[in-house]
Amino acid sequence: MIKSWDYQNEYKYLQKDILKSINNVLKSGNLFFGDELKKFEKNFLKINNSKYGIAVASGTDAIYLSLKALNIGVNDEVITVANTAIPTVSAIRNTGATIKFVDTQQDYLMDPNKIEKSISKKTKAIIPVHLYGQSCEMEKIIKITKKHKIKIIEDCAQAQGATFKKKKVGTFGVTGCFSFYPTKILGAYGDGGFITTNDKKVYKKLRRLRLYGMEQIDPSKWWNKKYFAVENGTNSRLSEIQAAILNIKIKYLNNFIKKRREIAKMYSEEIINPEIIKPLENKNNFHVYHLYVVAHKNRELILKRMKKNNISLDIQYPYPIHKMLAYKNSIYKNLQNSEKFSKKIFSLPIYPMIEKSKVKKIINILNKI
Ligand SMILES: Cc1ncc(COP(=O)(O)O)c(C=O)c1O
Repeated sequence: MIKSWDYQNEYKYLQKDILKSINNVLKSGNLFFGDELKKFEKNFLKINNSKYGIAVASGTDAIYLSLKALNIGVNDEVITVANTAIPTVSAIRNTGATIKFVDTQQDYLMDPNKIEKSISKKTKAIIPVHLYGQSCEMEKIIKITKKHKIKIIEDCAQAQGATFKKKKVGTFGVTGCFSFYPTKILGAYGDGGFITTNDKKVYKKLRRLRLYGMEQIDPSKWWNKKYFAVENGTNSRLSEIQAAILNIKIKYLNNFIKKRREIAKMYSEEIINPEIIKPLENKNNFHVYHLYVVAHKNRELILKRMKKNNISLDIQYPYPIHKMLAYKNSIYKNLQNSEKFSKKIFSLPIYPMIEKSKVKKIINILNKI
């Protein structure tokens, strides 16, 4: 059986270190806001070239809390794309703001040429999604947002380590929102997320929002004014156990990205079936290949053939968000590409420790279809 994603090889490789660090956490008597979290926040900010930031409970929370930190809510509009993971938009909806969709271009990323027409007086923010592991066209997006004075919150959940013109994703907007869901480029063995920012005021607010609205004046002593909320917040903690696991995995990050790119290169070079449309890697981008998404006019045929060969493929994503019951009252005009792509795309297995023989097998089947 070839799974669309699997962490067992990776765990075998890291098992000794991971078990040791979990044991150390449990023995420390500190399950939250301890040394592992402090170390991880420092390490993560360093590799992502950001001044400030906090670890949170998930990528969804990272987006939601970013919106809250910018005081976005009822009567405001937030622009994003319809071909994304549900959490990008559930985070917007949970603030009470209205979701506005723009269409995507051939590389599956937000079409910058469609943004300006959908900006209104109510538009407060835009969430470009660096989908599948490569950056949106940030120069064009920044130009538009500056002109209209709207904020950028980057959804970097799928793009840890990706760059646009050699600049890391997550450093273009007011905040960068990352996910440590296990399948992600830097994955925990549970949920987790991170918000990066270079804005001290936003950072301070985010810290309060993460922990019930309380002021954490000195994190090493917990907080001076204990159990006193200065504003309404929530609970979005990353546990010491997950931080400890991430502290180990972050050491392998560059190597794991390299391995993902090697697998992507195999698919790109060795799939020669002209009916399989391979992903575009934009020349300004360093693509980290969270997903290797291809398209075919008869997706059902491919899925069936793969199933027969014990290979499970995933589809990210089969429904554009505006077609979902929960979000059908969002604002949008023409989302022709998002709709068209959702019917044809599917994702080939890609993760750092997938055996090359499995990749070859998939390529062979695709070439014979
Ligand atoms: C594009 C995108 N945004 C946001 C998220 C949310 O992250 P999480 O699952 O950690 O809440 C994900 C992950 O599922 C994602 O792929």
